[in-house]
Order: sequence, then structure tokens, then C-alpha cells
Amino acid sequence: MPSNAPIGVFDSGLGGLSVLQAVRALLPHESLLYVADSRYAPYGERPDAFIEQRSLAIGRWLRERGAKAFVVACNTATAHGVATLRADHAWPVVGVEPGIKPAAAASRSGVIGVLATAATLRSARFADLLARHTAQGQRFLCQPGHGLVERIEAGDVDSPAVMRLLDKYIAPMIVQGADTLVLGCTHYPFLIPAIQRHFGTALTLIDTGAAIARQLQRRLEADDLGAPVLPGTGGSLALFTTANANALQTMADRLLNAAPDVVTVEIAETAPQAAAGLASPANLPIIPA
Ligand code: DGL
Repeated sequence: MPSNAPIGVFDSGLGGLSVLQAVRALLPHESLLYVADSRYAPYGERPDAFIEQRSLAIGRWLRERGAKAFVVACNTATAHGVATLRADHAWPVVGVEPGIKPAAAASRSGVIGVLATAATLRSARFADLLARHTAQGQRFLCQPGHGLVERIEAGDVDSPAVMRLLDKYIAPMIVQGADTLVLGCTHYPFLIPAIQRHFGTALTLIDTGAAIARQLQRRLEADDLGAPVLPGTGGSLALFTTANANALQTMADRLLNAAPDVVTVEIAETAPQAAAGLASPANLPIIPA
């Protein structure tokens, strides 16, 4: 795989743009292909096997388009898909997981809130992460952020409806003594201004976007896959979505310098699982909040 090949970055929707921003800031010479699987967002309300299946399908799609490495810019897809993705491809796969370790180090009160999707919180990976990093006397208050991803996908990061959800999820954490909040879903960094406006300085917010970019840099260096740094030239960026392009376009125009036009694509489920009789993704039920 040539080192000037692009890196694939994927999320269930717009959330991974928060990671993409960090990657572009650290590695401006790398070319990026971003896929938002917004047709099937939110993943956090989907069955585990469905999330794994979509992650695999998108990984293969990106690979077919020449990606040299893959960033799973989604905590939910990492929780349920990263092991399969690593087994499926001999390429660097960088995942993202809630910042439990930095939160444990940052908290003074020993009470830490974790806001993440229901699917992330119920995963074995998350249970393992908590078990590894909870120090004696520390308490993690884990709250599924039902409804937040839907709002953000609709471009809403601060309406009264969003503020009500934030209040419902976060205020009880503060009452119980939390001084630190893990943003355990890549969509949630878009809520930082709203959280700070509503809760002031009560909470230290933990987002892992910059750490993921550094991890990607280490992996590229270790595999000798880093793009050559040519003075005056930056990497290219292409944006794809499996739903209507408007939402991703609006968010990308807001966040990124000179965002390219978003292209809508169809990424079918992968054949082996379809043959094994899994329901078609479009027909899978969404678990109610
Ligand atoms: N952005 C995703 C995450 O980090 C998932 C959101 C969703 O689709 O539920 O978990």
C-alpha cells in the first residue's frame, strides 16, 4: 500500500468529524476519506451484531477505495466491531474508546460521569476498560445519552430539547459529586459549548479526539505508512454519507476549512452475513429509549 494512499475515517454519522478535525490538525499532509453511515444512525440503539456488520461493510468499502489505514471514529463501532475489523484486514485499525483513564487521573472528587451510547455502555470492551482503570474509591456514573445523537444528526446542538436532555443526564451526576465528565461518544464534543454554558465550570470534560490522532500517527510511523511531508501541499479530503448529504455538508462547512462537496453513497451489507440470513439493516428494529 503506497504511503500517500488515503486514511479511511468512519462514524455512524457526523460525530467522527470531531476526530477528523483532530487528525487534520496533527497530520495535515495525510489524505482522508470520511464515511458517515447516517442512514443507520444512531448505532447506539442498534443490536451488537448489526453494528459489527456495518463496521465491517464500511471497512471493506474504504479498503476497496485504496485506504491504507482505518480510523473507527465511533466508540460504539469500536466496542462492537474493532476486533472483527482487525481480524478482517491486515492494515492499521485505530479505534476510539471513552476516556476512562484520563478521567480517572483528572478527577479530584473520585466521582466521574460517563455519557456514552447504550450500546457502548453494555459492551464487554467497556466493562473491561472500567475494570482496568477504576482506582480504589473511585466511582463511575454511566449514563446512556438516549436521544442526543438524533438531535446532533439533525444539526441541533443547543435547542431547548437538547438542553433538557443534558440536564436530565448530567445534573444528577453533579448532585452525586461528579467533577469530571467523559464524552464517550464522538458526537458529544459538539455539545461542549452547551454543556459549559449550562453547567459552568462544574465539570472537567474529557474528549479523546486529539489522543486518537496521536495514536494514528504512532501506528503510521510504526508501519512506515506516513505520507511524505511536502512543503506547501496538504492532503486531500473526501466526504461520503449513506444518507442525504445536507446534514454532513452543513456540519462540515461549519467545522472544516474548505470542506469538499459531500457525496451520497450506498454501502451494502457484506455478503457472508447476508447469506447467513441476518435481517437487512434497514429492517432491523430500533430499540426504544
Ligand atoms: N458517534 C458514535 C460513538 O462515538 C455513535 C453514535 C451513534 O450512532 O449512536 O459512539
